[in-house]
Amino acid sequence: MTEPIIVGNWKMNTNVSEAVHLAQQIRQAAEQSGVDHQCGIVLCPPFVNLSAVGNCLRGSTIALGAQNCWIEPYGAFTGEISAAMLRSVGCEFVIIGHSERRTIFHEDDALIRQKMLRAWEESLVPILCVGETLHERQLHRTWNVLESQLEQLLAIEERRNPWVCAYEPVWAIGTGIAAEPPQIEQAHAFLRALLDAHGCTHVPILYGGSITPTNAVALFSVPNVAGGLVGGASLNADSFVHIIAASIHARATNR
Ligand code: PGA
Repeated sequence: MTEPIIVGNWKMNTNVSEAVHLAQQIRQAAEQSGVDHQCGIVLCPPFVNLSAVGNCLRGSTIALGAQNCWIEPYGAFTGEISAAMLRSVGCEFVIIGHSERRTIFHEDDALIRQKMLRAWEESLVPILCVGETLHERQLHRTWNVLESQLEQLLAIEERRNPWVCAYEPVWAIGTGIAAEPPQIEQAHAFLRALLDAHGCTHVPILYGGSITPTNAVALFSVPNVAGGLVGGASLNADSFVHIIAASIHARATNR
């Protein structure tokens, strides 16, 4: 996929008509400004809106992604959605291990590893989220946390499948307080070295957490930042396309 990569995580927002409207607006603005051919763009609406948004994106360069999936292909798992189902509605990507899944729904690294395997089995590109809480950062445990979140995954053979890593410090998500460029630089350098040491040189590392049109150029100019995972600001087409343009600008000027 073309880098930079900008992923819009709509979380539990939009009903079907709002989702269609937002996807149409994003597509139109991206195509009019030409950013759609200079950047990998992924939209991750809620499950129930995937088909409708997929229809809006047909014939465009914008890819469809989901926010989660279950580890089994089908069966008695009331309330869950399988990776195969996501594939069947046109998803190419799936976010795995978002901090909201880890904290609110108690997903652990073992489950997240199984989800990664299942996504690969269905030829989805998983976007694996890692990141420390404020408490862990204050205890100087950031590197241990990042390493342990990746440990089980890096130990498995299938890691050579395509995947994307997203550094999302938990304290920066939805708080309006993005990490500072030096903090991002350190974390991305750490993750890059860890991934490279395990043969994952092909895995792009995105930053996520309170990205806005205002801070986007500064955040995307940080070394080893291959794009962004955008929550709140992806719910507004102007802001989201602004962020996409900023990522392209940052890449061009930092080459
Ligand atoms: P935010 O969310 O941009 O609203 O901070 C980012 C995310 O959760 O991926």
